[in-house]
Amino acid sequence: MSKLKNKVAVVTGGNSGIGFGIAEAFKSEGAAGAIVGRNHLTLELAAAQLGNDFIAINADVTNLADLERVFKDTAEKFGKIDVLVANAGAGTTGTVADVSEADYNKTMDLNLKSVYFTVQKALPYMNDGGSIILIGSNAAHRAYPSFGLYGAAKAAVIFLAKSFSNDLLARKIRVNVITPGTTDTPAFDKFVPVEQIDAVKTQFASVMPIGRIGQPSDIGKTAVLLASEESSFLLGTEILVDGGMTYLAK
Ligand SMILES: NC(=O)c1ccc[n+]([C@@H]2O[C@H](COP(=O)([O-])OP(=O)(O)OC[C@H]3O[C@@H](n4cnc5c(N)ncnc54)[C@H](OP(=O)(O)O)[C@@H]3O)[C@@H](O)[C@H]2O)c1
Repeated sequence: MSKLKNKVAVVTGGNSGIGFGIAEAFKSEGAAGAIVGRNHLTLELAAAQLGNDFIAINADVTNLADLERVFKDTAEKFGKIDVLVANAGAGTTGTVADVSEADYNKTMDLNLKSVYFTVQKALPYMNDGGSIILIGSNAAHRAYPSFGLYGAAKAAVIFLAKSFSNDLLARKIRVNVITPGTTDTPAFDKFVPVEQIDAVKTQFASVMPIGRIGQPSDIGKTAVLLASEESSFLLGTEILVDGGMTYLAK
């Protein structure tokens, strides 16, 4: 279990859900590094579970000064960064008839602008030959009711993996995307009343071609692949980790 031995990783949103699953998978493969989020409590809990090789950094990924600090502090503590995961993000809802300019900016700032500048601010602190992993969404491929703006932001993220890879060819930094389908994370709490969560997850599982919703560990395993030398020929591409829900008609 040492595919990432001596590698330094930064995972934004590593204090919850998919990001935490990725950080756990990295740790189990020998990586050290930092998780990034804003919630003191979940940052502390996650860092305690990850142990001494990971630090928790309180930062807002939509704030460029915060991002500078994240990468500077990580590099000071561990040395240059090998793996960056721009995972922080959140689904938002609204239709073209009712999304306000403020809602639009909030969705784009978190799900697109933050990804762009997370990568930009990390670059001076990254090793050549490193791996950058962006997190997309199946909402970028299918138009779910009310998830149009979020899906558009994620579609742009999927494109950025190609253009970033192109920009970074000389440094041999590979940029790829993992696109999760419905995954069991605390994000459900934001959309579903607590007493309905189990029923909603069961309903989602019943329409998944593979018969269950995803777990953060499913995404974590794929992130290890993209972070490691085993994916050295993957560049600007997207891996759907979605139990078949995006393209298989059940
Ligand atoms: N769960 C799904 O079904 C699903 C499906 C497709 C794609 N995704 C994508 O997967 C990623 C992770 O989602 P998740 O389901 O794991 O959600 P989650 O459990 O709610 O985690 C979201 C993470 O993002 C962090 N975050 C949000 N805004 C931030 C900000 N401004 N600055 C710093 N950190 C911020 C949160 O930390 P703080 O709250 O502490 O800031 C949290 O750690 C997102 O990009 C999401 O769009 C999820």
